[in-house]
Amino acid sequence: QTANDIQIQRYDKDFRSKQLIKAAIMDNDFLKNLDTLQVKEMVESMHQAEYKADSYVITEGEAGNDLFVSAEGEFQVIKDGKILAVMGPGKAFGELAILYNCTRTASIRALTPCKVWMLDRRVFQKSA
Ligand code: CMP
Repeated sequence: QTANDIQIQRYDKDFRSKQLIKAAIMDNDFLKNLDTLQVKEMVESMHQAEYKADSYVITEGEAGNDLFVSAEGEFQVIKDGKILAVMGPGKAFGELAILYNCTRTASIRALTPCKVWMLDRRVFQKSA
């Protein structure tokens, strides 16, 4: 499947959600240099997913297919069994495997019931 076969599906969302996603992208060192139009497309194309407390959003070492923005809840960043960080809402993560085509550099674990916005890498690659 080539990038041109990917239909960019847009998902309606409220103003507050759009602002949260945009701010998270602009706050991420690896994503902040994307141009305004690319960011707008990403905001429009993200869809929501939920994770139970104690579940893994990302597993270290696996192939990565999505970029995430945290919307609700608390998340741990874990690498080699060590907790590197705890994040709340409004953080973009999972960008490294998408941008650099590497495996996931850390695990992301939901500490509480969590909501995220997510974007398929093919949509990201088409818009970015
Ligand atoms: P990725 O490697 O795709 O998947 C795991 C994600 O965890 C990674 O992208 C980053 O978004 C995030 N991450 C990796 N290392 C750290 C760190 N030291 N602190 C915070 N987040 C990190």
